[in-house]
Amino acid sequence: MEQTKFLLAESELPRRWYNVRADMPNPMQPILHPGTGQPVGPDDLAPLFPMELILQEVSEEPEIAIPDELLEIYSLWRPTPLYRAHRLEQAAGTRSQIFYKYEGVSPAGSHKPNTAVAQAFYNKREGRSRLATETGAGQWGSALAFACKLIGLECKVYMVRISYDQKPFRRSMIKTWGAEIVASPSSDTQCGRAILEEHPDTPGSLGIAISEAVEDAAGREDTSYSLGSVLNHVLLHQTIIGQEALQQMEMAGAFPDVVIGCVGGGSNFAGLAFPFIREKIAGRDIDVLACEPAACPTLTRGLYAYDFGDTSKLTPLVAMHTLGHDFVPAPIHAGGLRYHGVAPLISQLVKDDLVRAEAYLQSDCFAAAVQFAASEGIIPAPESSHAIHGAVKNAREADEAGEERTILFNLSGHGHFDMAAYDNYFAGKLEDVALDEAEMQRALEAIEGLPTPA
Ligand SMILES: Cc1ncc(COP(=O)(O)O)c(C=O)c1O
Repeated sequence: MEQTKFLLAESELPRRWYNVRADMPNPMQPILHPGTGQPVGPDDLAPLFPMELILQEVSEEPEIAIPDELLEIYSLWRPTPLYRAHRLEQAAGTRSQIFYKYEGVSPAGSHKPNTAVAQAFYNKREGRSRLATETGAGQWGSALAFACKLIGLECKVYMVRISYDQKPFRRSMIKTWGAEIVASPSSDTQCGRAILEEHPDTPGSLGIAISEAVEDAAGREDTSYSLGSVLNHVLLHQTIIGQEALQQMEMAGAFPDVVIGCVGGGSNFAGLAFPFIREKIAGRDIDVLACEPAACPTLTRGLYAYDFGDTSKLTPLVAMHTLGHDFVPAPIHAGGLRYHGVAPLISQLVKDDLVRAEAYLQSDCFAAAVQFAASEGIIPAPESSHAIHGAVKNAREADEAGEERTILFNLSGHGHFDMAAYDNYFAGKLEDVALDEAEMQRALEAIEGLPTPA
């Protein structure tokens, strides 16, 4: 019988995160202060983040040691399993080998706790007592609530309105871990009140929820802001996924030709892909594929430009692929992929042809998710279904080309709190939205006049 699961012992947990900045052929563009247009320094970020995270944000060291206290917390769910998807391969009728790394075994059900516990840990060590954050699908909010409970911090979560309504049990989970939660836009912040006044029925967006959390943190001494994706230090913490996967692929006696992840802000994708991109830069031939929704096609159709990370223009300016900071994506069920921008590190790697991207319709992704559940058993998060669809599509293309590929993808979370979305899919009520060109051009007007990347 061929092996299905490749498991590492706790003693084999990677001791270091990998920092792709050390190996990139071209550096990412500096982050700019919107007032001065000058690169921001650590002092500009100090009101929002603890110094250790700021230092990780700007670090060019190839590896950063994971503190022992964090390794101990990671051991609650890590190392996570790597699976060979024998049954999915059979169901898809492919000659390619498909592997997946499963991050849904964490207490919150996704990859998000990998950075949540690290951020809570450094904040606590530097004397902060409260964190404010946004959440889209609720995976990040629940991960941070869990981390804060474990580490002993208060937590306030601004949850995008549409997900707040669609996912009541994510709310319950966040409350179980002791955090405060409100629908965003909320009346708790100035920017929330302004947006509600103009658009009382808005479904909300990650960009809006980020504005609220940043305003909250900037206004209180005891509070830091915590972001679940996009920033360098967040992607850094997630690289424990790919570091483990490298060891596990070796156990399986295989190496991927293709590495795949879904992309919202980019953290689970980076977490799996960056350690493999290190190998790619060192000369190995790997196709690295980022999968995004056609309703929010940041990498495939967005502009590479300086833009704000949030709707109300409270964050610094980052050079990234963007659809414009006031773009509100259609309310697709992969709430965690509804973000107008993407991690600047990933944008740079796309520009340098080290990563490529594809965009998919949500009904194709749900079809892939149901096929996956029927063969492998796990019910995936709607976000992760984009990576599954990418993997199966890639295997089909290999078959058509007469190739046998080894495909590795990140199954970033389970979908146990997303069953209403599955119900809509079964009832034929899912709307397939590809972003309209005129709407995209309108949204991009918001970045006119901002600095242009070099
Ligand atoms: C399960 C899951 N996968 C993926 C994402 C997208 O985020 P990122 O691109 O940072 O991995 C989310 C975001 O909420 C998520 O919950």
